[in-house]
This record gives sequence, structure tokens and C-alpha cells, in this order.
Amino acid sequence: MKSPLAVTLSLLAGLAIMAGSGQLLADPIASSAKPLALRNIMKDMGKNAQAITEGISHEDWLQVEKAALLIADHPQPPLPEKMRIMSFAGTRIGTFKSYDGETHDAAKMVAKAARGSDGEGVILAFQKLQTACHSCHQAFREPLVKHFYETR
Ligand code: HEC
Repeated sequence: MKSPLAVTLSLLAGLAIMAGSGQLLADPIASSAKPLALRNIMKDMGKNAQAITEGISHEDWLQVEKAALLIADHPQPPLPEKMRIMSFAGTRIGTFKSYDGETHDAAKMVAKAARGSDGEGVILAFQKLQTACHSCHQAFREPLVKHFYETR
């Protein structure tokens, strides 16, 4: 008897294989008006990134640390949405996940430097963080918006 987790994982693997071989048709609920949970998560990422720059200006390292930890531990979209995103990304899902991982690691570095009131360290790590955000946006934002939101 498979555990529910194992079932989910094999389902995900199956989806990834289908997506990779190009068999997956357009997302069935694509272009529905309802925004992805991802968009709200991203809105919060933007707010927290702003809180970091503001914190740097005021040398408010506690604010920087808190905002950085919120970015590092950002919420995940619900599982069905994750599956839609996986099938959208197809073989590029590894790249997508690695940008998320880079974001997590850089945000942790920002938090750590902030904890030590190390302003220069914060700024260096924040540059890495923004690079991670930017890389994912460059690679995925436009295609994702097309895929999920644009009706043809
Ligand atoms: C793994 C990929 C990925 C990473 C990493 C990532 N983003 Fe995003 N982001 C996206 C995608 C995809 C969208 C488009 C979502 C949509 O329009 O529904 C987006 C959209 C946004 C938006 C626009 C939201 C809106 O109102 O439409 C903001 C702001 C944002 N991201 C901030 C950030 C910040 C700040 C970081 C880094 C701390 C970050 N993102 C890291 C993928 C990523």
C-alpha cells in the first residue's frame, strides 16, 4: 500500500515526464481569471525586498533580518498549483527550483549579516538576492504570464 505522499510524488514524476516529452496539452485551467497564489507570494516578496532596502537606509538591522527571513521562508503555492507550474516549466523545472533555492540561500545570508549588524555584508548578500529574483523573472515571468493568464 503506497502512502499518500508516495502517490503524490509518483504523480508529480509522471507529470514531469509527460511535460518533458511535450505530451502535455495546454494547461486546462489556464487563462482563468483567478490569479495564481504565486502572484500574491511574489507581491509579498516585493514588499519584503523593499523593507530590506528601507532597513539598510535606516540601519535598522532587525527590520532587515525579519524581512529577509520572510523571503527565505516564503509560503509555497498549494500542491495543485505547484503541479500546474511544474507542467508549465516542463524540463526547465530544475532551473526554476534552483532559482528558488538561490533566493532562499541569499535571503538567509542577508538575515545572518543583519543579525551581526554587518551593513556591508547585508548589501553584498542583498545583491545576490536580487540577482536570484531577477534571473528567475528573466527566464520565467513572461512565459508563465502568457501560459496562465493570456487568452488567445
Ligand atoms: C523561481 C522563480 C522566481 C523567483 C526566485 C522570484 N520570482 Fe518573483 N515572480 C516570478 C514569476 C513567475 C512571477 C510572475 C507571477 C504572475 O504574474 O502571476 C513573478 C512576479 C513577481 C512580482 C510581481 C507580482 C505582481 O504584482 O504581479 C514581484 C513584485 C516579484 N516577483 C518579486 C520577487 C522578489 C523580490 C524576488 C526575490 C526576493 C522574487 N520575486 C523571486 C518568479 C520568481
